[in-house]
Parts: sequence; structure tokens; C-alpha cells
Amino acid sequence: MTFEEVNKKRRSVRDFLDKPVSEDLIQELLKEALEAPSSSNTQPFKVVVATGDTLQAIGEDLTNKYRKSLTLRKKNIFGKLITAYQYRLTPNKVYQTIQGKYPGIYQDRRVKTAIGLYEVLGIKKEDRKKRNEELEKNFYFFGAPAAIWIYADPKMKYTALVDTGIFMQNFMLACTAKGLGSCPQGALNLWREPVDKYYDVPKGYELVCGISFGYPSDAKVNSYRPEKLSVEELLVKKK
Ligand SMILES: Cc1cc2nc3c(=O)[nH]c(=O)nc-3n(C[C@H](O)[C@H](O)[C@H](O)COP(=O)(O)O)c2cc1C
Repeated sequence: MTFEEVNKKRRSVRDFLDKPVSEDLIQELLKEALEAPSSSNTQPFKVVVATGDTLQAIGEDLTNKYRKSLTLRKKNIFGKLITAYQYRLTPNKVYQTIQGKYPGIYQDRRVKTAIGLYEVLGIKKEDRKKRNEELEKNFYFFGAPAAIWIYADPKMKYTALVDTGIFMQNFMLACTAKGLGSCPQGALNLWREPVDKYYDVPKGYELVCGISFGYPSDAKVNSYRPEKLSVEELLVKKK
């Protein structure tokens, strides 16, 4: 495939075949990702790779946390605090995803993207139960046989996040080029101790994002191609 083909083909995949990704292939993907540029070549990141039983155990733990977090909505403030403490539901703090609404136009774009996705899935906007079930799939990696978690060194400030993002995109494009699919997931940085439990993440590193990957199924959800901005919308006008 040409670069344009790989770039166009890469879309977030949310349903995977039950087919393992070989160790050798995972090594190749990581090598491709490591070709990414980084500020002064500092490469301020570390990666956890999980497959098999470990991935399953992490998925179970994350799913339990997600289910518990849903019960918070119905509790009063004390109930919320007690349950959050008891089940360690406080979100990962440094590079946390925004809780609640996004600011301004970003909330509009988010809602539009979500509505488009639910349309493809045949889920009505007001069907919260179905939407929650769909969200829950994040925590068992949409059935993917492998996932990575990318940690960055916050001592490198914002460049750590820029470098991590470029690394992630290289990884995802490499997946596409090799016939795999991937989904970057902020959902996988909500809680980090299910992953930290199994891996010796260096002290001080902060979890930025997770990526599920594997062989895409032909489920309808994988046909979703959300609209991107036009170049005109992107460009800043001259004064
Ligand atoms: C930082 C980041 C976090 C994301 N988090 C999630 C997530 O938690 N769950 C999910 O299904 N998709 C997630 N996505 C995928 C986006 O929804 C997707 O990239 C966007 O809708 C554009 O679609 P495309 O990737 O198919 O081009 C995330 C993407 C990025 C870059």
C-alpha cells in the first residue's frame, strides 16, 4: 500500500477477530513505531504490551471498575466518595481525560462523532443501557487479542505528550500496513493500577493512552468513517 492508502485505511477499529498477533509481529510494529521523530531524539516514553491471560486479567479489572463507576451516578456525595475510595475509582490524575462535557465546539464534534457511531451500531441516543454496554467494550479492548499502554516522562513537559502522540500514530499506521487494525483509547488511561499491577513501570512515568490492536472483523462498526475537517476549516486566515 502507498502511504496515502495506509493513511486513509487507518480508522479506529472497534471489533476484532479472535486471532492472536504473533510475538514477532508485535516486535516489528514496535520497531516501526520507534522510527518516529521525538524532541532531540529524547524518546521520553515506555510501553507495556499485554496479550493472553494478562490482557484478560487487566480487562476484567478495568471492566469491574467501569461497572462500579456507573453505580456512582445513583449515590449521594458520601456514597460516591466511599465507593470511589473502596474500589479505587479516582481517575488517573496527570494526563487524565476530561470528565464530563468538552469545552465549546469540541463537545459538538464529540457528540456528532458519537451519534454517527451509534447510528452505525443501530443504537438510539436515548438508549443509555445499550450505550453503556457499548462503552464497556472499551475495557475489554473491543475483543482485541493485544493492547499497548504508553507511558511518558512528565519531566519532559509538553514535548513528552507530542512525542508520545507521534509514536502512537506510527504504531497505528504500522498496524494498518501489516493488515491489522487499532483503536487508540483514552478509556484505557482512566485507571492505571490494573496495568501497573503486572508491569514494573518506571517511577514517575505517567500513563498517556492505550491502544488495542489485532485483526479487524468485518463487523459494521468498523465501517464507520467519521468526517474530518476540511482544509479550509483547518487553516487560520490571514489578517
Ligand atoms: C487520544 C485518543 C483517545 C481516544 N479514546 C477513545 C476511546 O476511549 N474509545 C474509543 O472507542 N475511541 C477512542 N478514540 C478514537 C477516536 O474516537 C477516533 O480517533 C475519532 O473518532 C476519529 O476516528 P478515526 O480514528 O476512525 O479516524 C480515541 C482517539 C484518540 C486520538
